[in-house]
Amino acid sequence: VVNVRYRRQHFARTLGITQRQLAEADRRPELASLGGAPDSYGARHLSAYRSALKRHPHRRPLSRQLFLNLKGGTGKTCLSVAYAYRLAEIGHRVLLIDLDSQAHATQHLGLPEGEVERTLYDVLIDKVPLEHAVARTALAELDVLPANLGMTTVDLSLMPMAGREYRLRRALDDLAGAYEFVVMDAPPSFGLLNLNALIAADDLFVPVLPDFLSFHGLKLLFETLGQLEEDLDHTLRRIVIVLNHYNPTTRIAREARSALRTHYPEFLSQTTVRQCTEFAQASSGGAPITALAPHCRGAKDVRSLVDEIIDAPIERGEEQSA
Ligand SMILES: Nc1ncnc2c1ncn2[C@@H]1O[C@H](COP(=O)(O)OP(=O)(O)O)[C@@H](O)[C@H]1O
Ligand SMILES: [Mg+2]
Repeated sequence: VVNVRYRRQHFARTLGITQRQLAEADRRPELASLGGAPDSYGARHLSAYRSALKRHPHRRPLSRQLFLNLKGGTGKTCLSVAYAYRLAEIGHRVLLIDLDSQAHATQHLGLPEGEVERTLYDVLIDKVPLEHAVARTALAELDVLPANLGMTTVDLSLMPMAGREYRLRRALDDLAGAYEFVVMDAPPSFGLLNLNALIAADDLFVPVLPDFLSFHGLKLLFETLGQLEEDLDHTLRRIVIVLNHYNPTTRIAREARSALRTHYPEFLSQTTVRQCTEFAQASSGGAPITALAPHCRGAKDVRSLVDEIIDAPIERGEEQSA
């Protein structure tokens, strides 16, 4: 799982150390024995070095973040995987939950279908504790709750259950401090599973494409959300629209961006994720983009999205006054 190689310079930068400090670390016996130096560091080296050098960032209180759009192909999976991986790469403890029975996020992380033993289905329906269902990755800071086709029937199975909308929220409540971020990749549908995810979420990320169909879809999504917040008495802490697949050379993309800026100024992220072919390569290669091709536009944009979110003050809901 997580099939990546870090170049020396990038490895040091990701750890937040100089190349000289890296050379010193390479000589520590416990790190030297891992065989990463001089230039074949993988995800597991990143975790081992970080932990030996005590370079973890300050622990944060849990944020539960959901990537959702009712439309398919907007980049929910690409962005949620890259975002979750980037957070873990800089040392935060992250759980990525694949909510989609198509299991694209699971595959993106290089987890073969045959190796998936438990999914969210077991947690929601059979009450298997979440920590027994998660899979570890080569990056010690990143765990995954994978998906498979068995999840297709989760909505049906939830239907007759008591507290059926709140099951995921409860399961996450039981995690007690293991993670700083839970990142969820939703399927493009609206049923009980996504309702569970919304109720379990603090923050909602909505990836949108720069075209006008997506723009109208957004209006519908916001109407649905407004209704839900009222009916379920759950207020999202923040909603972040992320413009994805942006190509500034096309007029339609520029117009869509300016329409978003006009109509959703308080929700639109500063970061726009540009069109970048490495995303396709990343999703098929079991390697998140920031590790696979750290210098490409897409990786830069994902890093800047992560920085923007971790640095941003929270503006919506009750947490404000806390
Ligand atoms: N910024 C981007 N630039 C280029 N291709 C992208 C970008 N974001 C996503 N893609 C590609 O678009 C397709 C759909 O993305 P995906 O994340 O699977 O969408 P969703 O999960 O919303 O259905 C994938 O083939 C992916 O590689
Ligand atoms: Mg997807």
